Amino acid sequence: MKNASTAALLLAAAAFTTATTLHAETQAAKPVHGEYKDWSTLSVSHRLDKQLVRTILGNDVAIKAARAGNTKPWPDGTVFAKVGWKEKTHPNWPQAVVPGEFAGAEAMVKDSKKFAETGGWGFGHWEGDKLVMNDKEKSATCFACHTPMKDNDYVYTVPVLQ
Ligand code: HEC
Repeated sequence: MKNASTAALLLAAAAFTTATTLHAETQAAKPVHGEYKDWSTLSVSHRLDKQLVRTILGNDVAIKAARAGNTKPWPDGTVFAKVGWKEKTHPNWPQAVVPGEFAGAEAMVKDSKKFAETGGWGFGHWEGDKLVMNDKEKSATCFACHTPMKDNDYVYTVPVLQ
């Protein structure tokens, strides 16, 4: 009797594991947005030349700094996520432009010592839910285009929801 119920328990556990694995695989096929999904919004933007809509999110350190007006410079530990989608006309309201296909998520990570060469900012992107820092060459192109914002700690976004 005892053995039979142990076997039943083991079977149930195995079925649960399979279901969880299957669920994880289904999830992986879609763009997984990673932890930044839980962050708060700093702003939004609509890039006309590339037909992209974006939201710019910040982690807790970023949001706290934005609320305190402590953004010149942004403190170490700040992380921004710029999440983009191809623009799409709303199917039921053609005057509205809304997010369509997911286009990618880029990151800026503040560490004034580690990233001293690029204004204290590390540049990266999310692969699934994993934040991957860009190599030196790619980071240099990011940094070059953010350099005109030097007087704003290399940041374009003006927080509007804090
Ligand atoms: C051609 C210029 C250009 C290049 C190259 C560029 N950016 Fe930006 N970036 C911008 C502009 C302009 C914004 C303001 C928001 C927008 O455009 O949607 C911005 C915003 C951001 C933000 C939000 C914080 C902020 O500064 O407003 C992040 C994060 C970001 N970029 C990451 C990157 C990464 C990572 C790269 C390199 C892979 C990169 N950027 C390359 C122009 C650029």
